[in-house]
Amino acid sequence: MSIAIGEVIAVKGVNILVELYEESNKETLFYQGEKFKGVSIQEHILIKRGFKDIVTLVQGEYLDERFEQEDGKSYVRKIELKPIGYYDQGEFYEGIKHLPMIRDVAYLMNEKQVRQIYGEADDSFVIGEILKEELPVSLPWANLFNTHIGVFGNTGSGKSNTLTNLYTTLFTNKLQALNGKSHFVVVDFNGEYTGKQLINDRDFKQVYDLDTRGGGDSKFPLSESVFWDEEVFGILFKATENTQKPFLKRVVSGRERFNDTPDSLGIYTKKTVARALTSPSPKKEFAELIREIAGLVDAEELKQNISRLRWHGVKSHFYLNDANHLNGGDTDPVYVREFKQLVENITIGNLNHFAELRLRIHVQLLADLVNGYVQFDHIQPLLKRIEASLTSLERVFEVGANPVNKLLTVVSLRKSNQEIKKVIPLLLAKYYYGSHKDEVINDSPPSHTFHMIIDEAHNILSIQSNRESESWKDYRLELFEEIIKEGRKFGFYLTLSSQRPADISPTIMSQIHNFFIHRLVNDRDLMLLDNTISTLDSLSRSMIPNLSKGCAVITGTSFDIPMIVQFERLEKESQPDSGDVDLQMLWND
Ligand SMILES: Nc1ncnc2c1ncn2[C@@H]1O[C@H](COP(=O)(O)OP(=O)(O)OP(=O)(O)O)[C@@H](O)[C@H]1O
Ligand SMILES: [Mg+2]
Repeated sequence: MSIAIGEVIAVKGVNILVELYEESNKETLFYQGEKFKGVSIQEHILIKRGFKDIVTLVQGEYLDERFEQEDGKSYVRKIELKPIGYYDQGEFYEGIKHLPMIRDVAYLMNEKQVRQIYGEADDSFVIGEILKEELPVSLPWANLFNTHIGVFGNTGSGKSNTLTNLYTTLFTNKLQALNGKSHFVVVDFNGEYTGKQLINDRDFKQVYDLDTRGGGDSKFPLSESVFWDEEVFGILFKATENTQKPFLKRVVSGRERFNDTPDSLGIYTKKTVARALTSPSPKKEFAELIREIAGLVDAEELKQNISRLRWHGVKSHFYLNDANHLNGGDTDPVYVREFKQLVENITIGNLNHFAELRLRIHVQLLADLVNGYVQFDHIQPLLKRIEASLTSLERVFEVGANPVNKLLTVVSLRKSNQEIKKVIPLLLAKYYYGSHKDEVINDSPPSHTFHMIIDEAHNILSIQSNRESESWKDYRLELFEEIIKEGRKFGFYLTLSSQRPADISPTIMSQIHNFFIHRLVNDRDLMLLDNTISTLDSLSRSMIPNLSKGCAVITGTSFDIPMIVQFERLEKESQPDSGDVDLQMLWND
């Protein structure tokens, strides 16, 4: 049996008022060798109602005046309770089904009973302890890792540590069982997971430390077919829908169509340049493009000769600046004869994929202009963007290399520039989502699972960004919205961590199943949580602005009731590289 502490004196809606027998405020009580927690806020109290035991949480307490005695006033202690579930034949069920009636007796709950509420699952998945009861919490891993997870909190509140704790615990327990059946990818914006974190065994962990400043030797492998894809180019170069994407499509499909013809690019280049030079309606831009092309294929002589071409604005044709008469415009201009052999001599050496892309887009643009398919002004911004990004892309991708398939892949973007930080997560998501879907398309339920973990997800999932174009933003969000809406069916799960839930697209927020919420103070963020998380109770919510480091409210579909959990601190070498600066040490004189 247990210790009876009081009686129900009022029930209003789901608010229960209990008058306590005495004003004891002991923290811990022992009764028949069992340990009980005293009555205080957030403690569990059991109310017996017939054969059902109703489990309640203390919401508040106060003293009420009773009667006046000679030696002063006398008070009774009253507590307010809210039901969270009930025991029926020894089993705990969450939710409000039964409410007590007046004069029902309230009891303290012993540790064993409380533990039962929070799932006695297997003890190996302990990630911390319940803040108030100090009971170890073991995660229901089988119901948790097949959901989308969100970790939120202000900077420095412990999100990265929580993420690390969650997955380190999983890998420690299940490393062999997971291998070959699941794949985990961490998008690591700040290089917090490139050391011994998560898995301390390089047989299972692959780290790509992408460095756009040059000097980095770790490049992300992309197979040829993944790279030569109009959608991928569309992402990489932020192409516009109407003109630039079709242009990229022509580049890619042209390459595909003549893949089996030897030296197809060489033939195409020569033919296009020759056609441009003899075009009956030449355009000013031809000269510049041919000069670029000549540069790309190391045709130095052609390049210099092309520099001699001048444009006659009125008559709309080229002439040679050093020839002694104005020529061109006619059917057989002098420069055509002069340059003919030089064009014939063009040879394409061994180009890497990036150089090939550079050449192909220039030749394609020239061909399209000759054919009158496109306006130069529409494609030129794309060309400029491609030029600007290719250097950094070359530094982070290795095209044609085979991807490494280890259990865990960490992609660190710490040394990447802003632009690469924007496109890589998108590219990874598109690439992995596509290939995973293909892999499991015939299996139901999926035979493999994929887990994409994005720390600092606001970097790529925010709805507000003034620096980017609308269409790019739409594309970015649509991809992740599709993953979060459809991914579950294919066994593709996202784990997102962010400082500003309010900045993240509402569609994405609304599809997250489970939440780990650290300290959050901003009103807009808190309001959003109110609206998004149906399982968050008001007491847990009111504690969010004041949670300490590493302490989080856990709630969602995989948990019966919201819990406030203090996460364990991992060992030093397993913690993410995100520690606070120790000024005592740093400024030590
Ligand atoms: N479980 C914990 N117990 C004790 N202290 C912790 C715990 N988790 C985190 N901390 C402390 O909080 C600091 C910040 O943690 P962490 O880097 O995980 O925060 P964060 O929320 O990821 O911050 P940011 O948003 O800036 O990335 C750590 O250096 C550590 O000192
Ligand atoms: Mg962090």
